[in-house]
Amino acid sequence: CRVLALISGNGSNLQAIIDHSQPKANYQVVGVISNKEDAYGLTRATDAGIATQCVNSISGETREAYDQRLIAAIDSYQPDLIVLAGFMRILTNELVEKYAGKMLNVHPSLLPRHTGLHTHQKAIDAGDSEHGASVHFVIPELDAGPVVLQAKVPVFEDDSAALLAARVHEQEHAIYPLVVKWFALGRLVMRQRQAYLDGELL
Ligand code: GRF
Repeated sequence: CRVLALISGNGSNLQAIIDHSQPKANYQVVGVISNKEDAYGLTRATDAGIATQCVNSISGETREAYDQRLIAAIDSYQPDLIVLAGFMRILTNELVEKYAGKMLNVHPSLLPRHTGLHTHQKAIDAGDSEHGASVHFVIPELDAGPVVLQAKVPVFEDDSAALLAARVHEQEHAIYPLVVKWFALGRLVMRQRQAYLDGELL
């Protein structure tokens, strides 16, 4: 399974996905695209011998025009699966529909709780006793695609957003490669906006 990652930053999830890849047994990361030239994840990819590309946004460019260029970049890798790994741009419906059922994301909350940004602070402010991470298929509505796998962490009384984020990140690194592997093995599919693992509705 040819996996392409889209990143904007540190790329710790990308690293976890690279570290669990087994080109002969399940999947290989064939490319990494960033919208930021200084994304540390690009260095991680280069160190792992993976091709990289930066698709910079041009000032004044529409979202549609950017996504057309992004689609061209994506298709140049002929991926079977696209993983969003801290890609901090909202994608057009057209792009998402084009890759429906072939695009995953990791979101730092127990969806459907806390969509959008600053999820760790939101969990603290809401007084949640547990928080976590979700891997889900991507659909046009933001952070609303069918959830495949979640991992929970406790929220402690004196938690800070940074401490909580570190706890959640560790879980992301465990669950995201596992879901990628399920997809690569053909065990995971999305049909009519619902996720199935081994034929069972999740
Ligand atoms: C993660 O917290 C992920 O949930 C969110 O963006 C962050 C990316 O972190 N979508 P990294 O670049 O993988 O370290």
